[in-house]
Amino acid sequence: QSIETGKFEWSSPSNIALVKYWGKKEGKGQQIPANPSVSFTLNNCKTITKLAFAKKQSQDTFSFDLLFEGKPKEEFKPKIEQFFERVLVYLPFLKDYHFTIDTQNTFPHSSGIASSASGMAALAMNLMSLEKALNPEMTEDYFYQKASFLARLGSGSACRSVKGEVVVWGEHKNIKGSSDLFGVEFPNAIHENFKNFQDTILLVDKGEKQVSSSIGHNLMHNHPFAERRFEQAHENLDQLISVFESGNLEEFITIVESEALTLHSMMMTSIPYFILMKPNTLEIINRIWKFRNETKIPVCFTLDAGANVHVLYPESVKESVLQLIKTELVGYCQNGHYICDQIGIGSEKN
Ligand code: PMV
Repeated sequence: QSIETGKFEWSSPSNIALVKYWGKKEGKGQQIPANPSVSFTLNNCKTITKLAFAKKQSQDTFSFDLLFEGKPKEEFKPKIEQFFERVLVYLPFLKDYHFTIDTQNTFPHSSGIASSASGMAALAMNLMSLEKALNPEMTEDYFYQKASFLARLGSGSACRSVKGEVVVWGEHKNIKGSSDLFGVEFPNAIHENFKNFQDTILLVDKGEKQVSSSIGHNLMHNHPFAERRFEQAHENLDQLISVFESGNLEEFITIVESEALTLHSMMMTSIPYFILMKPNTLEIINRIWKFRNETKIPVCFTLDAGANVHVLYPESVKESVLQLIKTELVGYCQNGHYICDQIGIGSEKN
């Protein structure tokens, strides 16, 4: 099939890891995780990407223009060039076209929310749409699996932003179909306590640069605690399998908060070392603990590689937790800024 020009548009969500991916196996550019991870797919924090393509004369290599929120954006180009280089062997038709990538986020730019997962997933979905247009007989399973495989090569955690509410990436002995190469929908039972699970993201520090994740993953090479940490991620994921089935929120909270603090401990105990939490991050954590002790309401936190706090809780306690956020926690957010989100289903074609 030959196609001259065309355009696709996909929106892909961000995701928040419960068991964290931190550390890669050796192998340059391969993006193989050192341990399996699992995440909730978000619903409101998304990247929307339009991909226009036109057949070109010279077919030496790929070429593209990049627009971010309607304007050319040079800073983001190297990351996309690297992505195209990595995926070229899997999508040889890329060099036949000139692409215009036009991308925007639903969350504010420089809010401190990483957009690499949603951004790379949205781009991968669009490229798969073109591959499907060229090969219409492709199955839906192949489409989504390859999209996740490609997204991984852009940014590891992006492979968890393709399809499904709860997504596992990385081989785990008790999770059927799990793979280091792409994310899969969590295949086992999930208790209704987790239905519409809420994530309110408290923006503690919007401006400051987080440790870039590529630097971060490298810190796990020669890290004194790395091997034990990777084993622990397997154990935590194993425990989450039964927690998802039973709906035991107390156990859920212990695993999720321990994972967040372990991620930060890894950064504090590497060389060079980093402290990414801010005083307000710790204030929020302590307030959440106090509130939980007093009310027995099952609310907990998790963290990414930065100072912002993700507040996780079941939909049934939404009113009380939002009350806590609006009356107390908002005071620790930069300019009082927070984003309400919840579990979503994955990437969508617009
Ligand atoms: O996908 P990357 O390379 O940006 O790494 C993401 C790392 C964490 O967000 C800290 C953890 C995770 O599993 O998402």
